[in-house]
Amino acid sequence: MQIGFFDSGVGGITVLHAALKLLPNEDYIYYADTLNVPYGPKPKDEVKKHIFNAIEFIIQQQVKAIVIACNTATSVSIEDLRSKYTIPIIGMEPAVKPAVEKNKNVNKRILVTATTLTLKEEKLQNLITKLDNEHIVDLLPLPGLVQFSERFEFNEQIVLPYLQEQLSKYDVSKYETIVLGCTHFSFYTDMFRKLLPSDINIIDGNIGTVNNLKRTLKKMNSLNEGNGNIIFYNSGFKVEDKAKLDEYSKLFKRLDDINVK
Ligand code: DGL
Repeated sequence: MQIGFFDSGVGGITVLHAALKLLPNEDYIYYADTLNVPYGPKPKDEVKKHIFNAIEFIIQQQVKAIVIACNTATSVSIEDLRSKYTIPIIGMEPAVKPAVEKNKNVNKRILVTATTLTLKEEKLQNLITKLDNEHIVDLLPLPGLVQFSERFEFNEQIVLPYLQEQLSKYDVSKYETIVLGCTHFSFYTDMFRKLLPSDINIIDGNIGTVNNLKRTLKKMNSLNEGNGNIIFYNSGFKVEDKAKLDEYSKLFKRLDDINVK
């Protein structure tokens, strides 16, 4: 059986890219809620409605597990999804825990970037309250990166000035780690690298999420049931248009090119 990946848009492809490397012998469906992206600036209740519609559709496609490859969707709905459905659902949250653990003995700060909704949600606030005893975590929403990636905009001349302006609010030399807490942001890892001091760690939750998926499949005894096939859906419609599929292929290629693992 196949595995369902879900995101508001193209961001989850950064997680699927990691899955294809670590779990190549699986088949996947990728659902982008293209009619409703972006989720980050929308009210929680509206976003939840979109998520439940999408998950209902994905479950009808016969999947053995679902990855919510979206920090925003996870933060507003993971508990409710898990109480409604029995199928294993793997979520993601900004990688604050590994960042704080790494920072333990260093007197430096952590910058968590994510969507506006993720940053104001209780789930992240609780996590930070629990882990950030030293008050070293700062929060930065980067909605522009969601918009750029949805437009397949990877031109440095356009994206770098935006990122530079956002990061200029901070003295980046004081930071040990920057957390990419939105799956869309990983498309721009190379640009973060360009703008930040070389000793800053740039981390996302993609590999951790795929490892989580792997552990879940192993427990279910259902690893290695496919050949790396992917079927794409845009808000419930199968993507068959060659030009659209080519755009998706280019996103995988970009991740290979910028060496995102
Ligand atoms: N990719 C999403 C995330 O990881 C959300 C982007 C959006 O729809 O605003 O949070």
